[in-house]
Amino acid sequence: MSLNEPEQSVGTAEVATTASALPLAVPAPLAAEGVPTRFACFVTGTDTEIGKTLISSAILHKLVRQGVRACGMKPIAAGAEERDGELHNDDSAMLRAAGNVQLPQSITTPYMLREPCAPHIAAALEGVTIEPVPILTAYAEILGASDATVVEGVGGFCVPFSEDFDSADLAVQFGLPVVLVVGMRLGCINHALLTAEAIVARGLVLAGWVANQVDPDMRFTDENVAELERRLPAPLLGRVPRLNEPTAAVAATHIELANLPGWPAKRA
Ligand SMILES: Nc1ncnc2c1ncn2[C@@H]1O[C@H](COP(=O)(O)OP(=O)(O)O)[C@@H](O)[C@H]1O
Ligand SMILES: [Mg+2]
Repeated sequence: MSLNEPEQSVGTAEVATTASALPLAVPAPLAAEGVPTRFACFVTGTDTEIGKTLISSAILHKLVRQGVRACGMKPIAAGAEERDGELHNDDSAMLRAAGNVQLPQSITTPYMLREPCAPHIAAALEGVTIEPVPILTAYAEILGASDATVVEGVGGFCVPFSEDFDSADLAVQFGLPVVLVVGMRLGCINHALLTAEAIVARGLVLAGWVANQVDPDMRFTDENVAELERRLPAPLLGRVPRLNEPTAAVAATHIELANLPGWPAKRA
């Protein structure tokens, strides 16, 4: 069987027994050699305020340094204030600054909510229902305008958005490899293992994790990282220490992403 022939499943075997029978699905031809692969990932974390935006920005920074068109997306932001006639959110702004593709904020953050609280509450306060379609429509626009996308999740992995939609559902809709940011502090092992379990249970690929030193006074950090390395089913992409200047550029020096699926080769 050539690489472009679909594998026959039990369901299609009967249909495809004659020479003239067409396969039910014909996959697109493989990309020609030399065509760069597209990179995208979904960044989640063990909690809110543990470094998702910092690490997402660091990934974008590295992508820009690789010479690709990189765009961040923060689909839902809760906590925005009006500045110069436009709503401003710190996460969205940091991702925008770290990437090199400038799209309207309504694309990179389709749900920009004012109240800094749980997103389903912030949405309810504005009479908004958070739904997947506007987010995926915006994502399609980003795909068209960039070679690489970093999507920052909201809070932890299972944050509710509405009665029947939460951030784990959103991650499934994107279907991207997941990068887990572990905020290193007491309790993080349990949070990290539960999050990894939820990611895998949703059929997603945990591509790697980052140990981010949010608590400068954490004791036995090395032992905690070692235990997580033993137990998490994905590689450690780096350890980011407590930084005096928590910028994308500085955080980027502490992570190694070359082994992530689809990571672009450096352009000359
Ligand atoms: N390694 C670090 N060193 C210093 N400050 C950090 C570090 N990681 C995160 N921070 C700071 O902690 C706060 C929360 O980080 P952020 O990336 O916004 O978290 P999240 O996106 O998970 O809510 C920010 O003020 C950020 O600058
Ligand atoms: Mg954030």
